[in-house]
Amino acid sequence: MRKKIIAGNWKMNKTVGEAIELANAVKLELADCNDVDVVLCPPFTALKSVSDIVSETQIAVGSQNMSSEDEGAYTGEICHTMLKEIFVRYVILGHSERREYYKETDFWINKKVVKALEKNLRPILCVGETLEDREAGNTEKVVEVQVREGLKDVDAAAFTELVIAYEPVWAIGTGKVATAQQAQDVHAFIRGIVKDMVGAEAADAVRIQYGGSMKPDNAVELLGQPDIDGGLIGGAALDATSFAAIVKAAI
Ligand code: G3H
Repeated sequence: MRKKIIAGNWKMNKTVGEAIELANAVKLELADCNDVDVVLCPPFTALKSVSDIVSETQIAVGSQNMSSEDEGAYTGEICHTMLKEIFVRYVILGHSERREYYKETDFWINKKVVKALEKNLRPILCVGETLEDREAGNTEKVVEVQVREGLKDVDAAAFTELVIAYEPVWAIGTGKVATAQQAQDVHAFIRGIVKDMVGAEAADAVRIQYGGSMKPDNAVELLGQPDIDGGLIGGAALDATSFAAIVKAAI
């Protein structure tokens, strides 16, 4: 039985002051939530403040990116040591916005995934097709390459730690949610790829989140699918009541 995991990706929203306010509001609603893993992913500038606020709760903190390098002359980058120092536990890697706007490739995303696991951080690897891919009938082909390349050289044992987020790009921030069946089909497909890569036990253990316009009113149906193990929430995570409602839908 896989424990559900709901992560809020705040993207490039919230000043430190606003992040403190939101984290406190989420804490009030979810501090004692043991049935679902809850993760807050604020921008880098607010990570320390949010980490302090949730430090004695069940809520974990994640970053939205991480360098594949250990330290040194990499202007603008943040490495694992800096994240672990402030008790960050998860790292979102390969989000479609980073793939699209910053040209992150599977090769670099994989280097980050491998580094995160080596340093005991839990990657949330994002994969997903564009509308063009879907309309051309290439959804499975695109997702398969992203999963295989992104998780290249990852041991079977690590699949209990890492998380895969299936986010159809056409559903992100658009209000166009994938139907529960569309999402379930791709999740089952991803689990099949993992089985082929590292075996049935790892495939059964790995948690696969859905992301893309998940809201309180569609969360129950999505989270009720057999291969959907949680959500990576964007817009709805910016409001404590909506985010808490999605977490509660996962229980
Ligand atoms: O990381 C989160 C996803 O990009 C989903 O964003 O819930 O605003 O569609 P959204």
